This record gives sequence, structure tokens and C-alpha cells, in this order.
Amino acid sequence: MNKQIEQIHQDFLEGLNSAKDAMEIQALSIQYLGRKGLITGVLKGISQLPKEERPEAGKKANQVRLAVDNAIQEALQKLATVNTTTEDVIDVSLPGRLPLKGSLHPVSQIQQKICDIFSRLGFDVAEGPEVESDHYNFEALNFPKNHPARDMQDTFFVSDDIVLRTHTSPMQIRIMEKTTPPVRVVTPGKVFRCDSDLTHTPMFHQVEGLLVDSDISFGDLKGILTTFIHQMFDEKTSLRFRPSFFPFTEPSAEVDILCVMCRGKGCRVCSQTGWLEILGSGMVHPALYENVGYPSGKYTGFAFGMGVERIAMLKYGIDDIRKFFENDIRFLQQF
Ligand code: FA5
Ligand code: MG
Repeated sequence: MNKQIEQIHQDFLEGLNSAKDAMEIQALSIQYLGRKGLITGVLKGISQLPKEERPEAGKKANQVRLAVDNAIQEALQKLATVNTTTEDVIDVSLPGRLPLKGSLHPVSQIQQKICDIFSRLGFDVAEGPEVESDHYNFEALNFPKNHPARDMQDTFFVSDDIVLRTHTSPMQIRIMEKTTPPVRVVTPGKVFRCDSDLTHTPMFHQVEGLLVDSDISFGDLKGILTTFIHQMFDEKTSLRFRPSFFPFTEPSAEVDILCVMCRGKGCRVCSQTGWLEILGSGMVHPALYENVGYPSGKYTGFAFGMGVERIAMLKYGIDDIRKFFENDIRFLQQF
């Protein structure tokens, strides 16, 4: 009798071990504990045993019945907890989780907008290298050997004659070398200077513009830049051309717009002047035409270079340029 019940227990344990799901476990339960089950059968048979064997056999059979019952409950429980952590259980009352949406960085958005405006004015868009030779960044742009812009204070040198470009103006040379006028192009990109405060970062973006043809005058430069600024900001934005100096333009002018924060009254952003510088410009210096091999006296043209972050700051009313590069998602999500 004992042997038989132990064998039944063994068989059950093996069966449970290979059971793959709740259905199979239920089937085992019926096979062993059901009305016509194996253990039920043994328990029924106890009354047929000789009187002195009954207590011992009854005890043993009941132990096995309990063990089998517990093992079945436990196995079912385990399956149930596994199920709640898988996709079988879906709580339809939970609020939906929205996917995180990416978006263009505000500086990229403004850069695209600048290029779009010039595209509509008939300019092509081109890009060039961020690591430049001294030749393109300075020499061909008519910077004298002792010009302060060549100083370590401003320029990141890679080696004696390789630099991280300090402006997008080297593209003027690269483009003219490859193109016979008319030239009409804007070139956006990253530039680098050893500089950091409220309005300066060591890496920032510029969009360079170049237009070369016959009979281009300073009036054309004023017209194009005025149109651009009115489209970028609004028709009422006042601007002024202020005489300035660049080695690669003659005459040169910097363009200021009336401070969009205080409308000219004077505030922190415009350093109380009422005006904000947004770009440098001028008529292409004849030395550049010579450097790229254009016939002397045949062409005239203008160039300009603007700071993309500065324009973004004015457009969105941001008073510290460094916010663009801290990658604070709460800041970036506003655009
Ligand atoms: C230039 O870089 C000239 N290459 C512009 C030019 C092009 C003149 C073609 C004539 C013809 P400037 O150093 O002023 O000029 O810089 C141009 C603009 O870049 C500035 O008006 C300003 O808007 C922006 N800028 C300059 N330095 C920084 C900086 N560290 N961080 C952010 N923006 C800057
Ligand atoms: Mg300047």
C-alpha cells in the first residue's frame, strides 16, 4: 500500500514537472484528485485493508493528497503571477502614454528659415568644411599676417596652418574658385572662436551670403538685406547700416536692428544702446577677385555674414545665448 501511494506521488511530480500550462495542470488535478482520481481511489481502498494497517495507510495517503493539492495550487498561482506581467493582461482604463516627439533645434529652425528666405530671393545653398586651412580662413581673405583675428585669443588652431574656421567667409573663396559669375549663394554652418559670455559661445552658426555679377552696387546689398530682415522679423523692423571694417570687404558695414526687446528705449540685451548688431557685410574687396583668378575690373559684388544664434535670440526673446547649448529639454520643447 505504502509503495503504491509513493509511486503515485512520484508519477504526479513528474507529470507536474512537464506540464506546460494551466490546462495541463488542471488535467493532472482531475487525474489524481478527481472523483475517479488515482489518490481518491487509494483513499477509498483503505477501508478494504486489514484493520491494523488502516491508520498507517490512511495517514500516508492523506499526506500525499495534501502535498499533491498544494503542489497544484502553487503551480497555478505561479502561472497567474507570470501572466500579469506579460501582455496577456491589458488595463484598458490606464491613460495612454504619448510617444516622445523629437523636433528641430531652435537654431536649426532659424538657420533653415534664413536659407528659405534667400532661396526665394534666388540664392543657392551650399556647405563647406569646418576645419580649414589658414589659406582659406585668413590668407585668401586678405587678412594681413599680423591681423589680430589670427591671434590665439580668438582662433582654435589644429596645427600651425590648420584652424577651426572662425567664420563662414572662407566659403566666399571656395565658391568663387569654382564658379564663373553670376554667383548667388548662401552657406550656413558651424564656426568656432575662443569666446564665451551672454552673447558669445565657442561654437556658433553663421550664414554667409555672396552675390557677384557685373554692376552690383551697395544699393543692391542694402536692398537684399532690408528685404531679408523684413521677412525674418516684420515689415516695421528698423535697421541701420553702420560703417565698419573687414579685410575682405570695402566699403564694409555692420547692420543693426532696433532692439526687439525694448523697441529702442535701451535695455540689458542691447546694452542700453537701443540697437543690436546682427551681421557684417560689405562690397567684395578687389584683392579677393585677384586671389581666385577673376579678370580684374570685370565683376563687382557683395557679401555678408550673420550670426544665427543672435537672430534666434531676437526672434524668441532669449537673453542668454548659452541656453541653446545646455540641452535642457524643458527649454528646447518650447520651440
Ligand atoms: C564675421 O565673422 C565676418 N566674416 C562677417 C562678414 C561676412 C563680413 C561677409 C563681411 C562680409 P563678425 O566677427 O562680426 O564678422 O561675426 C558676424 C556675426 O556673428 C556677428 O554679427 C554676430 O551676430 C555673430 N557672432 C560673432 N561672434 C559670436 C560668438 N562668439 N557667439 C555667437 N555669435 C557670434
Ligand atoms: Mg562684429
